[in-house]
Amino acid sequence: MTPAEAARADLARRMVQVEKMAALGRMAAGIVHEVNNPLSAIVGLTEVLLRRPDITADSLATLLKIHAEVQRIQRIMVGMLGFSRGAAPAMGPVDMSRVADETLSLAAPEFKIRRVQAVLEAAPGLALARGDADALKQVLFNLMLNAAQAIDGRGGHVWLSLEEGGGRVQVEAADDGPGVPPEIADRIFEPFFTTKPEGQGTGLGLFTSAEIVRRHGGRLWVAPRPGGGAVFGFDLPRA
Ligand SMILES: Nc1ncnc2c1ncn2[C@@H]1O[C@H](COP(=O)(O)OP(=O)(O)O)[C@@H](O)[C@H]1O
Ligand SMILES: [Mg+2]
Repeated sequence: MTPAEAARADLARRMVQVEKMAALGRMAAGIVHEVNNPLSAIVGLTEVLLRRPDITADSLATLLKIHAEVQRIQRIMVGMLGFSRGAAPAMGPVDMSRVADETLSLAAPEFKIRRVQAVLEAAPGLALARGDADALKQVLFNLMLNAAQAIDGRGGHVWLSLEEGGGRVQVEAADDGPGVPPEIADRIFEPFFTTKPEGQGTGLGLFTSAEIVRRHGGRLWVAPRPGGGAVFGFDLPRA
């Protein structure tokens, strides 16, 4: 194969991969919608049984397990809702400094537990972006949570920076954790890819985030941080 042929083959492979991911995303969104209703019903019905005065200790323990496990499924589903909702994303002018602020206060307890210091670097007078504030908050929260989990109590920093470049709003989340091993860097955006122990990672955070960013006309990327750690970034159109 000539280098040009190899490059074309590589491109073709990537396109197929992108298509596959998009199709999977649409399918996942459909599944979330269909499955969430019966799950809510199961949670509600177990709650009815849990309130029965004649319940035995055995049944109570079993029901509590059912209740907890179904809620676990729901949490996984909620992780996917970010883009299932996206059929009609609420696109409008978004103040990313404000979204970043709100995300950092949401993540504050997690930062504290894992000994992470968060630093927000927002360019003054930053232009408004065009997007869906709630969905973008979900993206930032995912990135913050991942950074905190990567640092995991060893003590470290996350830097959330917002600036303008190329007529777009540039968002970057950097951390000084262990970084993403190069051999898995292209797999971390796949649905259900996780290196975290069972019960801790769903492998949906980056998949969902990348899908949300894609719907905003951007692309979520990852790079090693010079000096150690990882940088995730994306850009948004101006409002
Ligand atoms: N900031 C980070 N530093 C190091 N590794 C990361 C970081 N963010 C994500 N990763 C890797 O990417 C994987 C996928 O992330 P994600 O899709 O959010 O799923 P989850 O967090 O549930 O594992 C993680 O399991 C981890 O291996
Ligand atoms: Mg995650």
